[in-house]
Amino acid sequence: MSFMELNARELKVNPFAMLHEEWALVSAGGLNDSGTGPRTVLNNSGTDPRTVLNNSGTDPRTVLNNSGTDPRTVLNNSGTDPRAVLNNSGTDPRAVLSYNTMTVSWGMMGTMWNKPVAMVFIRPQRYTKEFVDRADSFTLSFYPKEYKKALGLLGSKSGRDGDKIGESGLTPYFLDDTVAFEEAHTILVCRKLFGDQPLDAAKFVDLKLAPEFYPDQDFHHMYFGEVIKVLTKE
Ligand SMILES: Cc1cc2nc3c(=O)[nH]c(=O)nc-3n(C[C@H](O)[C@H](O)[C@H](O)COP(=O)(O)O)c2cc1C
Repeated sequence: MSFMELNARELKVNPFAMLHEEWALVSAGGLNDSGTGPRTVLNNSGTDPRTVLNNSGTDPRTVLNNSGTDPRTVLNNSGTDPRAVLNNSGTDPRAVLSYNTMTVSWGMMGTMWNKPVAMVFIRPQRYTKEFVDRADSFTLSFYPKEYKKALGLLGSKSGRDGDKIGESGLTPYFLDDTVAFEEAHTILVCRKLFGDQPLDAAKFVDLKLAPEFYPDQDFHHMYFGEVIKVLTKE
C-alpha cells in the first residue's frame, strides 16, 4: 500500500497513546555516496565505499599487481586498497549502513516557534544519535501491531554491532534525504530545528526522576524537528 501525504495539522492521532503503546522508530541517514544502495562498504583502510568483486571473484577492474603475486588484487578507483572483497551474500563483515534506526517510546508532538514540531529524546550512547547529529533531518515512524517484535529488536540491539535492520525484516524507505521503513503506517519527516541538548540534572524539580532514570548520568539529549511532511496509509 502506498503512502499518501497529509498536512501535519490534519493528522488525527493521540500522541500519548501512540508513543507509549505503539512505540516508534527514530531514523536518520540515507543512501551512500555513490547513490547506488543503502550500504556503505568500507575497505580495510576505510577509504573507498565502492570496491566490489563480481561472483566469480574477478572484477572488470582487476589487475595484477606489479609483483604478480595476487591474482585477486583489485585496484579501486582511487588505487588505495587491493584487498576489498565482498562475501557471498553481497554483504560484507566490514560493511556499515549509512543510516540507522532505533525504537523510542518517549517523545512529544506539538507546536513550537509556530511550527508543527516533534521532539525526540536520545541517550548519548545510541548509535542512532550519530546519524541524527550528522543529518539535517530525521523521521519518526509508527507501525502496525504486527511489527512490535521488529521494534523490540531495533530497540534492544545496536546498529553499531551488526545489521539489526536486516534482521528486523523491515524495508528501508528513502525519502527527502532521510529514511524510514515501508511497513510504517505513518511517517513524520522532521527537519531539525534544535538539538543535541542534554537534559540538565540540576533542573529536575521531581527529585526522584534523575536517580530512577539516569543512574549512569546518561541524560537524554533533546531534538526538536519541524514536521515538514506526514505520510500515512490510514
Ligand atoms: C520500547 C522502547 C523504547 C525506547 N525508547 C528510547 C528513547 O526514547 N530514547 C532512547 O535513547 N532510547 C530508547 N530506547 C532504547 C534504544 O532503542 C536502544 O538502546 C537501541 O538498541 C539503540 O540502538 P542504536 O545503538 O542502534 O541507536 C527504547 C527501547 C525500547 C525497546
